[in-house]
Amino acid sequence: MIVAIDGPAGSGKSSVSKAAARELGFAYQDTGAAYRAFAWYCVEQGVDLHNPDDVTDAVPGFDYAIGTDPDRYYVRVGRHDVTDDIREPRISAVVSAIARVPAVRERLTAIFREIMASTERPGIITEGRDITTVVAPEAPARILLTADEDVRMSRRSAELAGTQPEHLVAEQLGARDRLDSQVVDFMSAADGVVTIDSTHLTFDETVRAVTDLVRATMATDR
Ligand code: C5P
Repeated sequence: MIVAIDGPAGSGKSSVSKAAARELGFAYQDTGAAYRAFAWYCVEQGVDLHNPDDVTDAVPGFDYAIGTDPDRYYVRVGRHDVTDDIREPRISAVVSAIARVPAVRERLTAIFREIMASTERPGIITEGRDITTVVAPEAPARILLTADEDVRMSRRSAELAGTQPEHLVAEQLGARDRLDSQVVDFMSAADGVVTIDSTHLTFDETVRAVTDLVRATMATDR
């Protein structure tokens, strides 16, 4: 059972997807982590992130691994555990630049599909920006998770626990969404994709909306 979830930055899709996967006994794949890990790798290698040819040349050397168990989540590049490093603002600031390079999207999409195909659990929740439309358009359950912009900003600020001024978080989030929107549309639901708007929902209610939809889909598929 493949569950595809897309949404903008700060929509809560990572934490909601992880909690829903845990409850359903599913695996969990955060595709943003792969784009972040590739950005981290390019920074480490001294690649010019704004030169698409240099970024493309770095693709074959990218050795990526993630833990899809929602309770043992990790992200690795080669022998480095980058689970925390990829969340740093220096990576958030540059990830959109590498995410627009076609060779990067192609390689990462292939990796995402391999991970979905090889899960040993009864299902996998894969979340990102283009999962419902490009990576897994055939998934039986496809969800667009949204929330009003001010709510997304304040949730992201809370997540960063005051480590950065709120206006900077808002600026960076807005800038990232604008850049990312030029590459894929994750602000509107494609045909057959169910929108869950979490603006007025608690975290638990949002997780419940996802698990209810997945269970209903599994029941009709049976
Ligand atoms: O989900 P997260 O905010 O961690 O994603 C980081 C970045 O990875 C996004 O800003 C976007 O540039 C890129 N991304 C993407 N396609 C996806 C997932 C993430 O382009 N499916």
